Amino acid sequence: MIAPSILAADFARLAEETAAVRGADWLHVDVMDGHFVPNLTIGLPVVQALLSNTDIPVDCHLMIEDPDRWAVGYAEAGAHNVTVHVEAAGDPSKIAKDIRAAGARAGLSIKPGTPLEPYVELLAHFDTLLVMSVEPGFGGQEFIPDVLDKVRAAKRLVAAGELSVLVEIDGGINAETIERAAQAGVDCFVAGSAVYGADDPAEAVRQLRAMADT
Ligand code: DX5
Ligand code: ZN
Repeated sequence: MIAPSILAADFARLAEETAAVRGADWLHVDVMDGHFVPNLTIGLPVVQALLSNTDIPVDCHLMIEDPDRWAVGYAEAGAHNVTVHVEAAGDPSKIAKDIRAAGARAGLSIKPGTPLEPYVELLAHFDTLLVMSVEPGFGGQEFIPDVLDKVRAAKRLVAAGELSVLVEIDGGINAETIERAAQAGVDCFVAGSAVYGADDPAEAVRQLRAMADT
């Protein structure tokens, strides 16, 4: 699965930019609050506008403090997947329960420097594990290959039947890095600059998908 990140899109033309990635599996939306990460993007009103304007399932990546308070609103608005950061969540399993009760998939994200082991049991409450392959906050950064160990560890647990999560990766995914991530077992690839930096974003999605499938 390929999830273009609109962080790399032209925010003045969000409707056209969303239409430009027709055929994508998920539309990845980075919500940043200027506190959890040193950048500020968009919030619920803009996500609601996007939701009413696209058939692509929307994948909300909340890089915010106090997701315990805010996450459920994105699920209620109709997002397909709502992901919170384990470093910011007060009661992650309660957040997951609330997101699921509102009809969305629940995702848990970990920053590059955060280990997976302490959270393995927590993952039983979640549908998605979002492994960050850059420090969250900005697009266009270089892929950190070390995080693939966490992908492999999660996929081993899935294969052993101990875990049932879709593994998503976010940051620095492009034609040079996607195959390595695919070999590690990633199920869903977020790509911002590699998609919106291309002349034809929909074609870039198809090409990335083909590379991930080889
Ligand atoms: C970074 C965001 C990413 C970002 C990825 O904090 O979570 O989703 O858009 O951008 P690229 O693909 O350019 O690294
Ligand atoms: Zn993201």
